[in-house]
Amino acid sequence: MSARPLPRSFAVKSFGCQMNVYDGERMAELLAGQGMVPAADGEAAELVVLNTCHIREKAAEKVYSDIGRLVKASHAAGAAKPLIAVAGCVAQAEGAEIVQRARAVDIVVGPQAYHRLPDLVARAAAGAPALDTDMPAESKFGALPARRKVGPAAFLTVQEGCDKFCTYCVVPYTRGAESSRPWSAILNEARALVDAGACEITLLGQNVNAWTGEDEAGRRQGLDGLIRALDRLPGLARIRYTTSHPNDMSDALIAAHGEIASLMPFLHLPVQSGSDRILKAMNRSHTTDAYLRLIERVRAARPDIAISGDFIVGFPGETDADFAATLALVEAVGHAQAFSFKYSPRPGTPAATMDDQIAPAVMDARLQALQALLNRQQHGFNTASLGRRCTVLIERRGKLPGQMLGKSPWLQSVHIQTDAPIGSLLEVEIVAAGPNSVSGEYRARIAA
Ligand code: 5AD
Ligand code: SF4
Repeated sequence: MSARPLPRSFAVKSFGCQMNVYDGERMAELLAGQGMVPAADGEAAELVVLNTCHIREKAAEKVYSDIGRLVKASHAAGAAKPLIAVAGCVAQAEGAEIVQRARAVDIVVGPQAYHRLPDLVARAAAGAPALDTDMPAESKFGALPARRKVGPAAFLTVQEGCDKFCTYCVVPYTRGAESSRPWSAILNEARALVDAGACEITLLGQNVNAWTGEDEAGRRQGLDGLIRALDRLPGLARIRYTTSHPNDMSDALIAAHGEIASLMPFLHLPVQSGSDRILKAMNRSHTTDAYLRLIERVRAARPDIAISGDFIVGFPGETDADFAATLALVEAVGHAQAFSFKYSPRPGTPAATMDDQIAPAVMDARLQALQALLNRQQHGFNTASLGRRCTVLIERRGKLPGQMLGKSPWLQSVHIQTDAPIGSLLEVEIVAAGPNSVSGEYRARIAA
């Protein structure tokens, strides 16, 4: 490695979950705070941060093709190779192996160490090795610059890590143990987000509903208490949270869905499988029956709540009967939307070495059948919302002239013809429904 000047421009590219999107934004703020400027769209940056995801093999492998592409592009342009930083969960899981496999990589930084990115950039520019996959006891959040400019719908990480050790999942290894950010740090960041233009905040955590902390008076609070405090924040019109574990769905949080108007009627509550045998092998520590009763209680508290989930097909040992049980559970729940994946064996997880790995063709067929059912449910949910009046938060421009795109309370994408600017909260009537989105007509403007 040879020395080179410090980079003047940067680009951060995030893959994977919303927490990575949040981390990517914070890394960009950190680099901007050092005087670097974001490269314009389509322009080559002198520092490229690839903020990676390790959840499935395909996601984890993507970083290597991206690195190849970056090197090729700089060759073709006759320019110097950018400094390349691999951040995120692949960095944590693979560490120094990344540099062995892809020599073009200059920096490797894990999800709990990215507040040290400026120092790593300086080291790499000086030609020194720059690898940091520590999980330091001090919180990275305290070392990050304040939030300045955000869109109308912002993310806020309140909890990280996982102690549940589902047998298929890398998260406990890449993100570490469950930890909750302190009450006052969260409220301060929420205030800063609202000041910076947000009127919706999605609280993020790998097990967000396991969040716990003490309020100003020293009382123990759960996520419901945090949401109640955020509900009192002037200018914050909408609160969401994701992603939750069924076992951390407390009575108080369920009640909050019926009582707090700013808490949007949407719940992403992954169940993964509808077979108790498979749930046991996954170490999910809940049954399908317990899950269905939970959904019933949530619906009793908030009848119009939209339910979303995650499903894995082809977990080791999954039989046709197990898969049929998953379809039956999906039928019983009725989803507004959901994500479904083929099982991907991950190095170091218990399921990767289990017997009875499922043949790819079987997984393909199961995924297709499940997705067909989930798509029908999503279309059905959208169709059922025809004629509903609801708020829509305008988030960006649509493809057609005069068209804007926003989100309904139930997280549907809503197309609407309006000259209301981004960040407006409108009252809208849903007038058309498609499989992936709905259309709305403007009825009134609401002050956020
Ligand atoms: N293979 C396939 N899907 C997985 N997920 C987590 N680990 C794996 C894996 N090894 C899915 C789960 C989880 C979502 C974020 O990704 O459904 O809820
Ligand atoms: Fe993975 Fe979620 Fe299970 Fe944690 S709770 S191990 S993140 S599936």
